[in-house]
Amino acid sequence: MYEDVKAGILGLGLAVPPKVLTNFDLEKIVDTSDEWITERTGIKERHILEDGENITEYSIKAAKEAIERAGLTPQDINLIICATVTPQYIIPSMAVMVQDGIGAKNAGAFDLSATCSGFIYGLSIANTFVKVNPDWKVLVIGAEALSRKTNWQDRSICVLLGDGAGAAVIGKVGEQRGIIDFTLGADGSQWELLTLRGGGSCFPPFDDRLPKDEYYIKMKGREVFKVATRMMEKIAFDLLKRNGYTPEDVDLLVPHQANYRIIEFLRERLGLSKEQVFINIQKYGNTSAASIPLALYEAEKEGRLKKGDLVLLVAFGGGFTYGGMLIRW
Ligand code: ACO
Repeated sequence: MYEDVKAGILGLGLAVPPKVLTNFDLEKIVDTSDEWITERTGIKERHILEDGENITEYSIKAAKEAIERAGLTPQDINLIICATVTPQYIIPSMAVMVQDGIGAKNAGAFDLSATCSGFIYGLSIANTFVKVNPDWKVLVIGAEALSRKTNWQDRSICVLLGDGAGAAVIGKVGEQRGIIDFTLGADGSQWELLTLRGGGSCFPPFDDRLPKDEYYIKMKGREVFKVATRMMEKIAFDLLKRNGYTPEDVDLLVPHQANYRIIEFLRERLGLSKEQVFINIQKYGNTSAASIPLALYEAEKEGRLKKGDLVLLVAFGGGFTYGGMLIRW
């Protein structure tokens, strides 16, 4: 209908809990080492919520910054999409709590569950809304409190995850920039490789039919690794090809930060230089839906995203879900 309308990112925001847990701190909790974690994942530290804190307050902080940097006020926001698998509550949604927290009185609000691909799913929905309602401003948040769903006795998972919130305001932009195309996908046939079953409606909290460790995120890391590398490569190549680009045209690849080795694999397959890829996993670990907005925010702050750059986002997560997006910055 409004094919000529281009949607793009108007402003970004970031907020992470100040408490930092280093690999050396983890050495005191489980049988692991800084060397193992660094070599296998690239992670050096992660931010973790303290007791009494919740991720909604950081989502509100990130949202306020994104709105301010977009030159808008909370009243200008028409829709809030909060991508998360660790909302503060089931009811109300986190998006509704953000709506109240920032005073976005004119906005609808809902949560979106698509694990690590959630932010790209959210951007895609925002893009579609702005094309239909060119005056709309959509706030997309990726926020996770993964530390609250982490089994701190399971070394295969607790070294990987972190907490944080990133936000972006999406609105109409000039035709030379903005979202060019996106891919969304899913493969539910392998859901058992990455789960958090406890607390859902099948096994509500305190249901003693389910082993205790099912109330935490469980992952068959090696198997997930294989699927992640294959899918991320496919998404990137397909998206570039169908828009008439080659990897050489990409100014910055901003991938989901799950594992440094997955990102390196993707970089090599695409034939990109290190300068063409943004990595901040060393500081935050895997923050699921928050990972891409945290990376975009820091890439922009560090001057790695310049006007006119071709930016490629690629994500993959539990479910499985996957997504990719091409943006002219
Ligand atoms: N410290 C020390 N040793 C460890 C640790 C640890 N923290 N964790 C596992 N090990 C050991 C294992 O026990 C195993 O020992 P063994 O050989 O004696 O059996 C050995 O290290 C190798 O274990 P692997 O699991 O094979 O290690 P791998 O190299 O595959 O790395 C990792 C594991 C980091 C989890 C990797 O597989 C990975 O990144 N997977 C993909 C993660 C991902 O992309 N997830 C998707 C998004 S997450 C989401 O949606 C929430």
